Amino acid sequence: MDVPDLPDGGLCALVGPPGSGKSTFAARYPDSWRVCLDVYRRLATDSEADQSATPVAAEIQDLLLDARLSRALNVLVDSTNVFPHVRAGLLARARYWQRPAVAVLFDVPLSTVEAQNADRDRVVPLHIVREHHQLLPDADQLHREGFTAVHLVSELLATPAALRRAAHR
Ligand code: UTP
Ligand code: MG
Repeated sequence: MDVPDLPDGGLCALVGPPGSGKSTFAARYPDSWRVCLDVYRRLATDSEADQSATPVAAEIQDLLLDARLSRALNVLVDSTNVFPHVRAGLLARARYWQRPAVAVLFDVPLSTVEAQNADRDRVVPLHIVREHHQLLPDADQLHREGFTAVHLVSELLATPAALRRAAHR
């Protein structure tokens, strides 16, 4: 997969259901760019899945968003971000600090997401994967909400570099 250039000092929201590849994608960028609710839930409770820690995880995330955006440092939000009110919060923070906000949309077919989710250590219950997949917005919706650019993972997978690699197999 090719990795898009992200705007300097801006916010990038990854938008995709559990198992769609968000953290795998985020690992291509510097580690310090990434904010991730799962990580903060684990730090608070020893369990990434413990939803009782979501409020404290969100507070930690907000502190880091402000710390980085106020310094014009890139930030990559590695959470599902499928709920419009969650994206609205991210957009509001970017707007407050006058930073650009872009999205990477994990428009991955449900069958692929289910297979990837089933084939890893932390398997998310299937009904949650399906609910989140159904909630996935399309690119037009993300533009309307205020994201200045929307990168589709389906297109990043089909870039010339990926095609070149495929041709050499
Ligand atoms: P991730 O763990 O990156 O998914 O990939 P995610 O979106 O961040 O999931 P949540 O929201 O934290 O639950 C899930 C699995 O899919 C594989 C990864 O190796 C991992 O095992 N994967 C990801 C692929 O096989 N191919 C890809 O292109 C991306
Ligand atoms: Mg993840």
